[in-house]
Amino acid sequence: MKLSHILFSQGFGTRRVCAGLVDAGLVRHDGQALDDPDVDLPTESLVLEVEGKPWPFHAQALVMLHKPAGYECSQKPKHHPSVLTLLPAPLRQRGVQPIGRLDEDTTGLLLLTDDGKLIHKLTSPKHHVPKVYEVGCKHPVDATQVERLLAGVVLDDDPAPVRAAACEAVGERGLRLTLTEGKYHQVKRMVAAVSNRVETLHRSTFGPLTLPADLAPGQWRWVPGWPG
Ligand code: URA
Repeated sequence: MKLSHILFSQGFGTRRVCAGLVDAGLVRHDGQALDDPDVDLPTESLVLEVEGKPWPFHAQALVMLHKPAGYECSQKPKHHPSVLTLLPAPLRQRGVQPIGRLDEDTTGLLLLTDDGKLIHKLTSPKHHVPKVYEVGCKHPVDATQVERLLAGVVLDDDPAPVRAAACEAVGERGLRLTLTEGKYHQVKRMVAAVSNRVETLHRSTFGPLTLPADLAPGQWRWVPGWPG
């Protein structure tokens, strides 16, 4: 693929901006500055250096972010900055979007991609992708609450009960809850339905992916591809 097209596909701007980066000597490969925007490069395992930073080529972007509290998942946030501000400009430019949403005060694993089909697949209710939430509750958790969450609770917008795929008490005021849908405020509303209240909410896994212990709040990382 031509270098200017590679840069364009990765979100570095219009073709003219990309050619300008090359002309300015800001694109390097294997330690050498590349001076021809029309040079053909194989994209497999390609890692460019753009403005001094390594940029591995990805035909489609899939990244994980450790979402901190105080960020909204919306592209047009109302009260807090968007999670997209935590990503480098090329990822925003190529249109990555969160796969599902976490509330502003929820922390933990958020996936983002520019692959519309993957977003559809992973957010469609048909696919039942399990997500694990670590919940800090206001009141002590008892066995009845855990049983009711597993049996199913009715939320105000749907007469069909929603149940946790797995649920266990963790310490006196903690719950580990696995959900396979993603309804609006689902964890908070389910916990409220059993007469408790969510004080802290953290997502630790999404499908087969777990938030790495060494990914600090606000940091992101490439995911090589959707596993499976
Ligand atoms: N359930 C909620 O209530 N909030 C989230 O952010 C995610 C799941």
